[in-house]
Amino acid sequence: MLDALLSPLQIGPVELRNRIVSTAHQTTLVHDHLPTDDFLAYHEARARGGVGLIVLEATAVDPSGLLTPHTLAGYREDSAAGFARLVDAVRPHGARLFVQLFHGGREQIASPPRTPAISASAVPSRRFHVEPRAATAADIEAFIEGYGRSAATMAEAGLDGIEISAAHNYLAAQFFTPGLNRRDDEWAEPAHFLLAVLDAVRAAAPGLALGVRLSADSEAAREVVGELVDRVDYLSVALGESSTYLGAMGIVPPPPFPENAIGDYAGFRVGPPLVGTSRIVDPVSADRLVAGGAFEAVGMTRALITDPDLPRKAAEGDVDEILRCIGCNACIAHYHAGTPIACTQNPRTGRERTLPRPGQAAERHRVVVVGAGPGGLAAAAEAGAAGHEVVLLERAERIGGQFALAGSAPMHEEPALSLARNYERLLAAGEVDLRLGTEADADAVAALEPDLVVVGTGARPFVPDVPLEGVTAIQSWDVLAGPLPTGRKVVVADWGGDASGLASAELLARAGNEVALAVGSATLGETLHQYQRNLYAQRLYRARVEILHHLDLLAAESGAVRFANLFAPDLETTLPADLLVLALGRVPERGLGEELAARGLPVKEVGDCLSPRSVEEAILEGTLAARDLQVTKIRG
Ligand SMILES: Cc1cc2nc3c(=O)[nH]c(=O)nc-3n(C[C@H](O)[C@H](O)[C@H](O)COP(=O)(O)O)c2cc1C
Ligand code: SF4
Repeated sequence: MLDALLSPLQIGPVELRNRIVSTAHQTTLVHDHLPTDDFLAYHEARARGGVGLIVLEATAVDPSGLLTPHTLAGYREDSAAGFARLVDAVRPHGARLFVQLFHGGREQIASPPRTPAISASAVPSRRFHVEPRAATAADIEAFIEGYGRSAATMAEAGLDGIEISAAHNYLAAQFFTPGLNRRDDEWAEPAHFLLAVLDAVRAAAPGLALGVRLSADSEAAREVVGELVDRVDYLSVALGESSTYLGAMGIVPPPPFPENAIGDYAGFRVGPPLVGTSRIVDPVSADRLVAGGAFEAVGMTRALITDPDLPRKAAEGDVDEILRCIGCNACIAHYHAGTPIACTQNPRTGRERTLPRPGQAAERHRVVVVGAGPGGLAAAAEAGAAGHEVVLLERAERIGGQFALAGSAPMHEEPALSLARNYERLLAAGEVDLRLGTEADADAVAALEPDLVVVGTGARPFVPDVPLEGVTAIQSWDVLAGPLPTGRKVVVADWGGDASGLASAELLARAGNEVALAVGSATLGETLHQYQRNLYAQRLYRARVEILHHLDLLAAESGAVRFANLFAPDLETTLPADLLVLALGRVPERGLGEELAARGLPVKEVGDCLSPRSVEEAILEGTLAARDLQVTKIRG
């Protein structure tokens, strides 16, 4: 089983033990442009988990090529020591280590003060609003020299290979993409810059494997790939590009993008081994892609961010034990926020040094968890894994809480199912006594004589203090719970702080209602990460939802809803409606924790009942609550 995926692969001078690759991804575990101890621990965990190849994140070859304040600097001579420590951490586990050398060109996500942006030509970039200047011949020579110098540094550090980023419309691609290269000198020739870079890197690090990453959905990349064949040991293809909102969604395609999205792209099989990446989450389909000849190896990057032990579990025949990536993209949201990488499903991702895996508890305790939303599920799973006796009480007939409720919307369906699947398995593994359809009041909890109670009672929708008459008013949660009305004139008042209003608007429009979305924030879906927000914008426009901006709910009265302009409140807008959907935030479900504490029971509250936030905080707090379970703390 999985013979193709788990078989060795030769890439130039380097043999990989299997064909599972962790492709380049920025971790923000970087300080002063150098790898940190957390960076080492992060990659060591994936090496220990059995991955064949780790390609380290985009590493700048010149200060002008730094994508963010947390980009690694390959051009710094003092970086060799940090990378060498990484080699020492990874190599004993049998994984091979490449680094991606990078220059962003006109793509910069930096905060002020930014270095001057330099590209093939002076063409502004729309997504990050960068206005580059055209590189001089001297700039270009310096960049090529920077690639060579960085490659030499990586060879000195002991890495196995170099990958040149020519994907996602960064600098190398800016030279070969029509419209972005308006030069009339020798660098006008599309592949010239990339070929010069490859020659410089090969000369500087002749013993290392050398590859190029391209975007498979780029026509321009398809045009140049043939010219690379004689110069590279492998090619790597992914999807998407950085300079547009739509293109960026493709870099980390979220559900409902189909799984194995990269499998549809042919045309890059020009000779060298090909690594294919994008939405491959399941080793069985990964094996099929390799066995069927689509790729020689597969990137399973978010799958490995979620479960570093995926390759080992696959090799041991424990595919069902793999913690599944749900495609929520919180990992890359951290990158854009400039915070260390994290994963909603695996709170240990990015915390490999500080949050060790659960060991068996010295003494078995009875833990009662109230609420099977993400926080309660995480607490129950963690306590169960440590060997405690765990009872999990849930009022509803299913696990998942608000995450399950959100699952009725197309964008959240797969994440909700995958989260439920992850926790069904973890609860079973921990022998958790799950009691669905069980209301837990203080008496019921106390009767179970717990050593610790974890309260994860969640939140409920906020009800605004405004007159709501003459129009039926419901909450976005009612829409998600169904059934959906049809043929109504609907206004959704959305505060921009979560996805429930956007999800409701889409569901109602697709069910045959006429829907206006009144956005009560500066931008649509203001606090959602950009990959989710942009996909929502696309889906809402396609569903013919009318999107109206900067509207603050005033009142509903006789068949209409009144709003004030957020920035000029004297300007009012009245929208006709017979149904008003409220998505104006949440309030915590409190009470039980305080009542149990008053009775002298040891209680820990987790997640939204402390104050509503995201699934990420809920799972982290649930995990930590169970993790901190100590005999002395409880009984002492
Ligand atoms: C947090 C994060 C950072 C990324 N940074 C890079 C990068 O530095 N260079 C790169 O070529 N791709 C980068 N990517 C894209 C990944 O290499 C990969 O192509 C993408 O995650 C899709 O593959 P997957 O579905 O297996 O996760 C990044 C992805 C993530 C999630
Ligand atoms: S944060 Fe979400 S998308 Fe990213 S690796 Fe974890 S589960 Fe997958």
